[in-house]
Amino acid sequence: MELEAFVLASQYLSEVETTELINEAQAEQFRIKFLGTKNILKPIFDEMRNIPNERKKEFGQLCNKVKTLAENKFQETKNKLDRAKLNQFESIDLSAPAEPYNIGSRHPVSLVMEEMVGIFERIGFSVAEEREIEDDWHNFTALGTPEDHPARDMQDTFYLKESATMLLRTHTSPVQVRTMLSQKPPIRIIAPGRVYRNETISARSHCQFHQIEGLYVAENVSFADLRQTLYYFAKEMFGATKIRLRPSYFPFTEPSAEMDVYLGLETERDQRLTKGTGWLEVLGCGMVDPVVLKHCGIDPEQYSGFAFGIGIERIALFKYQIDDIRLFFENDLRFLRQFGPSNIF
Ligand code: DAH
Repeated sequence: MELEAFVLASQYLSEVETTELINEAQAEQFRIKFLGTKNILKPIFDEMRNIPNERKKEFGQLCNKVKTLAENKFQETKNKLDRAKLNQFESIDLSAPAEPYNIGSRHPVSLVMEEMVGIFERIGFSVAEEREIEDDWHNFTALGTPEDHPARDMQDTFYLKESATMLLRTHTSPVQVRTMLSQKPPIRIIAPGRVYRNETISARSHCQFHQIEGLYVAENVSFADLRQTLYYFAKEMFGATKIRLRPSYFPFTEPSAEMDVYLGLETERDQRLTKGTGWLEVLGCGMVDPVVLKHCGIDPEQYSGFAFGIGIERIALFKYQIDDIRLFFENDLRFLRQFGPSNIF
């Protein structure tokens, strides 16, 4: 018994001396084993009473040595690890560049839309937004599209299943109607938004796209006002020096026109996009038909107005030299990242 206790104590001593403590986990394990409430030294301290008196002192010293050594070793290791932690903190390089923070980029359609909105806001137009699910009356009837007009055909319009009168708006023109019904002239609004048509998807056309509608109704609004407003827009948006208005037809304007912008034929792109003419077709417009004013409760004897509608994708295709409209709706990050910063710093 006596010998066993001495051997065990010596073994513990050499274990304490030789154990390597590299990290917190090892230090903690060591503490539990030699210094914890149920440490392994306890039983050999208890052996003291079985040791003969003449050897008690020697045994006691040995046990105390193991314990003190374990305490010192643990404390030293802990101090060392704490210091290392502190050094780690101090060694942070405050001048190192931060992790890039991804903030995404603007969609090219939004970029063009915002540019256009900005141009019209500068001359006093304010933004009107309306529902994308419309009824047949606001989308067609109030705008002078007769019952048998081909645009009402299922080919072009997405009707909601449960009703033959609710549909996805096919243009932003119903915003004209809703605005005139709810506001008194003078009215000066632009309405950007998404529209839908049941068309075969191809590089040139899509079943969803965006338009900006413009409407100005007040006393004595003339075609000259329309022309000057559009000229200002063409100058700001395209840097164009010339516009031309070609007679056209829309059920809700009379007279109606389409506006072309002169881009010239300097580059190969100008050649291609203008089909060799130098002119790019940009929008539809006209004087609001008195019948439409009447539908919306505005007296055509007192007021007149002009309206226009611009397709945004067409302009974005032109502006960014993209040749496939489908790219705008596929959300391919490789495409979208080209239109702005994808991170700051
Ligand atoms: N709504 C027409 C379309 O989608 C565009 C348009 C033409 C709007 C003439 C107008 C306008 O306000 O006056 O094709």
